[in-house]
Amino acid sequence: MTTANRTPEPPGGTATLGGHQVARIGFGAMQLPGPGVLGPPRDRETALAVLRSAVAFGVNHIDTAQFYGPDVANELIHAALHPYPEDLVLVTKVGAERDAEGNWTPAQRPEQLRAGVEANLRSLGVEQVHVVNLRLLDEGEPVDLDDQLAEMVALRDEGKIGAIGVSTVTLEQLRQALPVGIACVQNAYSLLDRSGEPLLELCREHDVAWVPYFPLGSAFPHLPKVTEQPAVVEAASRLGATPAQVGLAWLLAHDAHTLLIPGTSDPDHLADNIATADVHLDADTMKILDGLAESTG
Ligand SMILES: NC(=O)c1ccc[n+]([C@@H]2O[C@H](COP(=O)([O-])OP(=O)(O)OC[C@H]3O[C@@H](n4cnc5c(N)ncnc54)[C@H](OP(=O)(O)O)[C@@H]3O)[C@@H](O)[C@H]2O)c1
Repeated sequence: MTTANRTPEPPGGTATLGGHQVARIGFGAMQLPGPGVLGPPRDRETALAVLRSAVAFGVNHIDTAQFYGPDVANELIHAALHPYPEDLVLVTKVGAERDAEGNWTPAQRPEQLRAGVEANLRSLGVEQVHVVNLRLLDEGEPVDLDDQLAEMVALRDEGKIGAIGVSTVTLEQLRQALPVGIACVQNAYSLLDRSGEPLLELCREHDVAWVPYFPLGSAFPHLPKVTEQPAVVEAASRLGATPAQVGLAWLLAHDAHTLLIPGTSDPDHLADNIATADVHLDADTMKILDGLAESTG
């Protein structure tokens, strides 16, 4: 076998997600559609190339949603990667929709969750999605969480879902969900936003994967960017790394339950994020970075 054909090492080592061993550095597909996560990508060929490169780098965990675009991210994943590598774990989410203006609206009634799973199965071209996150939205007509979880369990029993995750949950909601068997939690969390720490602790206690979204602070302009934080920039220059790598390396070092899904539409940023696997944060740097959430409020 030539070097080019050899299976790459899983970037960042591996951890368990829904019964599968996945590389700790995965990929989030939310940046692939057009601006505002709406419509087609600015450059379709680049979007397809980013997905193919991610897999070539050893990524085997891709996070997506039917409502990215809507209908764009899943179509790109299918176009770029189907038939999928055997070890590729696809993770999607249900519980939301986009309205005509592109606003995110809740779709949490059991029949909407089911329709969401069916839409993902069709667009991804699979008989089962490995992991589906129940994405809660604190808006609209409330739907009982137990009713939502019961529908997710029914979908898992039918084999349409391999494992259930939850997303954007409170500590209380996570406690309520844990008895049905939860593979992962996806909440906003980063070096600068540590509000999810109690949930991470509960994940650690129950050996649940912690898959933070907005690990770099997102593409949304109103949220603080990890890559612009002066102490992160300083640490990066001292370590010969990039600020994004420092932010991601901190997440990996902070807790072994963490799996990364940084989002990018840029091939150079993708390579940068994968190379986080080679960045070592020494104890002094960890201490400085650990303290950042307190100093940034
Ligand atoms: N469960 C949920 O409700 C939920 C919500 C949001 C997101 N998610 C998932 O979580 C994933 C991650 O969140 P996210 O994509 O919103 O935010 P993110 O990963 O925190 O940040 C994405 C932003 O960082 C930039 N970026 C990425 N790599 C970079 C690098 N190496 N250097 C400099 N800038 C870089 C991207 O721009 P470029 O494109 O220019 O690289 C983009 O603007 C999403 O892709 C999605 O799969 C889930």
